[in-house]
Amino acid sequence: MVKSTGIKKRTAIFISGNGSNMKNLVKFSKIKNAPIKVDLVISSNKKSNAIQYLKKNKIYFKIFEFKQKNKDEIKIFDILKKKKIQLICLAGFMKILSGSFIKKFSGKILNIHPSLLPKYKGLNTHERVILDKEKYSGCTVHFVNSKLDSGEIIIQKKVKINKKDNPKSLSKKILKQEHLLYPKALIKILSKT
Ligand code: GAR
Repeated sequence: MVKSTGIKKRTAIFISGNGSNMKNLVKFSKIKNAPIKVDLVISSNKKSNAIQYLKKNKIYFKIFEFKQKNKDEIKIFDILKKKKIQLICLAGFMKILSGSFIKKFSGKILNIHPSLLPKYKGLNTHERVILDKEKYSGCTVHFVNSKLDSGEIIIQKKVKINKKDNPKSLSKKILKQEHLLYPKALIKILSKT
């Protein structure tokens, strides 16, 4: 049960891919006592199939491909201010935000990563986990700081790896857990009694 704070935090979600975590957070935000309200989505990928979903659901979104990172970050910061955004959820966002951008939203940017951090930071997580013959992997929601996948951990979920698992099957299993974990993390940091 989500405890009520009365006011939902105005939230922006940043995506690059399919946006399944974003869709899941949008769905979660619609629960009466959810602690967030999705006011903006930023996609770094104009071809993301999440764009159709955003249009259909009338969610305000902007595309920034980060070809000129500094310029794009300045424009994004402007939109965040205009939209009075209080929280940023990175959800499959594959660009690295600059230190100065992160500083401006210090303590207000979260990320979900498909591994049990601090293990397997960065890209190709599932491939590396399988190659290393790990018995477990999982997912982590953490605060974002200027070091890649290194901010304070909010919550994690362990996932067992079977002998038959490959990067694809593992990714699918972990993604399912991510969809449960991100809302839990938000409740953990935002819901008060
Ligand atoms: C998710 O597994 C997320 O944890 C991962 O990308 C996937 C995005 O899926 N993020 C990272 O690897 C960030 N370094 P989605 O677009 O369907 O939410």
